[in-house]
Amino acid sequence: DTKIIKINPHNPEIEKIKEAAEIIKNGGTVAFPTETVYGLGANALADKAIEKIFLAKGRPQDNPLIIHISSIDQLNNLVESIPDRAYPLMDRFWPGPLTLIFNRTKIVPDRITGGLSTVAIRMPSHNIALELIKYSELPIAAPSANTSGKPSPTNSSHVIHDLLGKVDMIIDGGSTGIGLESTVLDISGEIPTILRPGGVTIEDLLTILPKVEYDKALEITDREIVPKSPGQKYKHYSPDARLIIVKGEVDEIIQKTNNLYSKYESKGMKVGIIATKQTYDKYRGKNIIIAGDRNMPETIGASLFNILREFDELKVDIIIAEGVEEKGIGKAIMNRMRKAADGKVV
Ligand code: TXA
Ligand code: MG
Repeated sequence: DTKIIKINPHNPEIEKIKEAAEIIKNGGTVAFPTETVYGLGANALADKAIEKIFLAKGRPQDNPLIIHISSIDQLNNLVESIPDRAYPLMDRFWPGPLTLIFNRTKIVPDRITGGLSTVAIRMPSHNIALELIKYSELPIAAPSANTSGKPSPTNSSHVIHDLLGKVDMIIDGGSTGIGLESTVLDISGEIPTILRPGGVTIEDLLTILPKVEYDKALEITDREIVPKSPGQKYKHYSPDARLIIVKGEVDEIIQKTNNLYSKYESKGMKVGIIATKQTYDKYRGKNIIIAGDRNMPETIGASLFNILREFDELKVDIIIAEGVEEKGIGKAIMNRMRKAADGKVV
């Protein structure tokens, strides 16, 4: 049985946090909001607890988990050493949507790292997440709280849809702010490398680091290149419908989208369109959802996963999604859209 409790994200009720923390301490699973997406948490130091996460999500065994901490003190137990370049990054971006890859200690279970010698760690900036970690007095392993392969959950109804009956508790703390997962940055090698673009942009990182690269596997859709981040190799964020991304100047996007719409509609398919404030009234069809404002791409990032799930509810066959410029948060938005589209861009 899954207990669902509502907690105020601005001012978490400590009695309720303690109840959730007790579940974590006893080896159970709790889904909780972070500033990026909802996570499914368990004691990061207990194999049996971690096993429950993999089972509930149906997650491939070799895909490692991120450990969430609420204070820098917790790092020492988990990592072999802290590279010099980590300090200014932690100073600037923690708590926040940046996951750092460190060399791990033996305390970190193999179950978390998928046997890798490294471990992914982040300090989330959400009140509920921070309080939950603090009162558990434990580091908390937490992947996104969705069924493996589905879009990450950005509100509690998504978590309930995917995990009800499979976890011990779901905390309803409203909608997450960023709506896309954290940036995963490998700082263990010579050049800091982004394994997954996310809430902290490359432009943000370059204010602190002289050089940052993207993992080659992100740049190329070639399946021959094995991503350094195991999670990036799986088809991900996928709605039931087929997704097609449309790129170009705004006028071009509108024209291409309407052409695609006519093509699929004439075949008797139900077509959904992910539009923006600037374009929605130029499109044909009735299943049009506005993701946000093209001039404020963070609004599009915040609603993307929710819209993919809405179109699943509407049982559309095809989703046509307006692409965005690949800078700032746009890089993460396009990464998630490409995965949902399995690379299909026109
Ligand atoms: O925003 C987030 O990061 C959310 C919230 C809940 O914190 N969590 C999240 O976790 O997105 P998950 O499990 O869905 O994604 C973790 C990603 C995967 O792509 C995984 O392969 C990668 O991080 N990862 C974990 N440990 C790693 C490691 N040691 N080396 C390389 N990549 C790693
Ligand atoms: Mg995930």
